[in-house]
Amino acid sequence: MSTFGLAAVAMPRWSLARVDSGITYHYRLTAEVAETELVPGFRSSVLAFNGDIPAPVIRAKQGQPVRIEFTNKLDEPTTIHWHGLRIPIAMDGVPFLSQKPVMPGETFVYEFTPPDAGTFWYHPHMNSVEQLGKGLVGALIVEEAIKPDFDIDEVLILKHWHLDKQGQWKALTRPRYAARMGTPGEWGTANGINNPTLSYRAGSRVRLRLANVDNTMTYNLRLKGVSAEVIAIDGNPVSAPFVFEQHKIGPGMRLDLAFIMPAATSGDDSVVLEYLLGRFGFPLANFTVSSESPLNIRPIPRLMMNPIPVPDLQAAETVAFAFEWEGAISPVDEDGKTHDTFWLINRRPWQGMGPGNIPEPVADLKLGKSYIFDLKNNTQYHHPIHLHGHTFLVFEMDGKAVTPFYTDTVLLGKNGRAKAAFVADNPGSWMYHCHVIEHMKTGLMGYVRVS
Ligand code: C2O
Ligand code: CU
Ligand code: CU
Repeated sequence: MSTFGLAAVAMPRWSLARVDSGITYHYRLTAEVAETELVPGFRSSVLAFNGDIPAPVIRAKQGQPVRIEFTNKLDEPTTIHWHGLRIPIAMDGVPFLSQKPVMPGETFVYEFTPPDAGTFWYHPHMNSVEQLGKGLVGALIVEEAIKPDFDIDEVLILKHWHLDKQGQWKALTRPRYAARMGTPGEWGTANGINNPTLSYRAGSRVRLRLANVDNTMTYNLRLKGVSAEVIAIDGNPVSAPFVFEQHKIGPGMRLDLAFIMPAATSGDDSVVLEYLLGRFGFPLANFTVSSESPLNIRPIPRLMMNPIPVPDLQAAETVAFAFEWEGAISPVDEDGKTHDTFWLINRRPWQGMGPGNIPEPVADLKLGKSYIFDLKNNTQYHHPIHLHGHTFLVFEMDGKAVTPFYTDTVLLGKNGRAKAAFVADNPGSWMYHCHVIEHMKTGLMGYVRVS
């Protein structure tokens, strides 16, 4: 159980999930009900990996096997999905489609070898509004086969909790918002703390790994007081790092920044990570200089590109996807309940699935072939569109060519468009959905079949 008595001044120690066993990357994880202090002075009941907020950081290594023994201590079924990893379908953690739900009391062993290095994350893929919303979200860091030499490697998972000022839960979803941008939480945190302070030696080469693990919020990020560069987007190194001004990350998305800790940080010079809402900036974390002597300034290391197969754009087949809005009440759910449907992929809302009831895929792809997904958002709200098991190469946004970048989640703005290519090289049925959790739960979900 974690307590954050020093919430305003210090970061918590991440809990340890590592198992001492001969296997280097061996972890034990549980999902359980826990109580913790998020709003200072108040206890909140949460769902937590290993009973801790923030969840343990799983550290793996590129090309090395990882074993995670997962035990479900909730009173409902669940699974764990490893967001952004190109691993075999059996380990993808989607109930019914790739594995049986892990029932209360059961243990499931996830074993895989991550091919790509970077900042990823993990979360259940069942009852997601509640399971993710109440805290089952954690960072998964895949270290490079040859580790770049940063002085600081910091992970910040960003989440707004649906808690009031006394730490009591408010509704995680409201139909009125589910049909629009999603229901935002009110208590903003980084690693479970509202505006934590991190302290580094001046001159430190900092790698800041930011992950948006929120159900709803898109953070338009800015870092004040220091010049930083973007080194990776959604886990994948960019081909040429560029100056970070501001960058939007939707739910599920990540951003890796690199900067050198300045010598003086106070007042207007202080280093603050903010998110912008209109003209206003709200702090997510702030950075101060520790009292130790400064480090000599050395250059920021470069990251190696991940071994993602390069799609053949000439030979690629284009598949068009339109994301649209249409309010309706679906007659019945798999558990017999009626539920709201607001969102469609190519005129079809996702109706859920169950053991004997797997709907048809939204696309049938041929193993080994290159595809261009032509994504079109015909709505007034943004949608971070995520594909499991593959990594997109985005080369066009809103009708304009962009410096191609790799990502597992493409953020479509209001009426936004994107062209994202990839090689369908991973056989299986792969979820394909908006990562605004209420959108995926009210229709904006499907899967593609690669065979
Ligand atoms: Cu974060 Cu279906 O994924
Ligand atoms: Cu995913
Ligand atoms: Cu959406």
